[in-house]
Amino acid sequence: WNEPAIVGSVLGADYARLGEEVADLTDAGVGRIQWDVMDRRFVPNMTFGADVVAACRAHSDIPFEAHLMVQDPDPVLADYVEAGCDTVIVHVETCPHLHRTLAAIRELGAKAGVAVNPSTPLDFVRHVLGQLDQIVIMTVNPGFGGQQYIAAMEHKVAEMRALVDVSNSALKIEVDGGISRDTARSAWYAGAELLVAGSAVLSHPGGKRAAVEELHRAMA
Ligand code: DX5
Repeated sequence: WNEPAIVGSVLGADYARLGEEVADLTDAGVGRIQWDVMDRRFVPNMTFGADVVAACRAHSDIPFEAHLMVQDPDPVLADYVEAGCDTVIVHVETCPHLHRTLAAIRELGAKAGVAVNPSTPLDFVRHVLGQLDQIVIMTVNPGFGGQQYIAAMEHKVAEMRALVDVSNSALKIEVDGGISRDTARSAWYAGAELLVAGSAVLSHPGGKRAAVEELHRAMA
């Protein structure tokens, strides 16, 4: 599969300087910026509306992806695409009509992603793989940054990698949660090519660029 790319999550960024933080993450060498959108219903926290994402769009020239950890994503899909997100990720657990929701994301001109929580089997997305550009395998329970990586999810990553390789699909596999220099290597070798990192980058004592370089070295 493709070279690994670190996806910079802004969940733990300094919200008083968000545009600068997005620019710094971009300069630090992340491949994309991830917006962890939370509604305090599907997950215990509340974060970014689409206007906040739109305000930061001009501060970076790399792709934005919206990770919608919200109870009812359908009404807000267009808002995040219009705000400048190239990929919109919904949670399978919040989409009773996932086939329709993924089609709606693509009709908006964005790439369609689906995230699965630790307890959710991959079987829930088996019948929509053809409509997916990306699958996000959560390696923490969503809602917070800085949590412990759930290594048991690597079996799910490997299962997905086998499914993608046998179907010769262009589907990208992303892992999200607890990625650090100690966990990036095994997540990458399990089959993930996009690794979301929030706290490991944002709170690295050596700064964002040193953190991203350290993560890439961990996977070399
Ligand atoms: C959980 C979030 C986090 C975030 C990354 O809901 O999705 O996983 O992106 O946070 P860290 O890298 O600090 O675990």
